[in-house]
Amino acid sequence: MVCLGNICRSPLAEGILKSKTDPQKVYVDSAGTGDYHVGDQPDPRSIAIAKKHSLDITLQRGRQFSIRDFDNFDLIYVMDTFNYADVIALARNEEDKKKVKLISDEIFPGENVDVPDPYQGLAEGFKNVYKMLDEACEVIANKLEAKQQPK
Ligand code: 4NP
Repeated sequence: MVCLGNICRSPLAEGILKSKTDPQKVYVDSAGTGDYHVGDQPDPRSIAIAKKHSLDITLQRGRQFSIRDFDNFDLIYVMDTFNYADVIALARNEEDKKKVKLISDEIFPGENVDVPDPYQGLAEGFKNVYKMLDEACEVIANKLEAKQQPK
């Protein structure tokens, strides 16, 4: 799960997807394309909206997306088209590029919808982000579950 700062959107996406998947089977992590918040706890407004939904994201710490993430992850979900461009710019080959997906494509396929950056805004923005991420992560979790069914 990748956003810009790794303190607002992607920590929520990480927490939500973790809550919907089996940690023995699916490894979920998050990162930011920027390095402004490396080592920081998620934004208090993300912590609060997560807590409202019984999720604890307080132990997460910001880290910056790295080229190694292309090797360590099968799927890289980005929150907006800026994140998409930044991550694609680091891709070494087509295989890397294929891993990168706009998370909203899971609920609004092909519409290029951003999960809006809520950092400069009001608490209402975090509510909207939570709702979008919850809906997208539900679809992702169901797809991952389907993949894990024995053939
Ligand atoms: P995020 O929000 O990308 O959802 O974590 C932001 C957090 C911090 C900054 C930008 C976006 N910043 O510029 O510090």
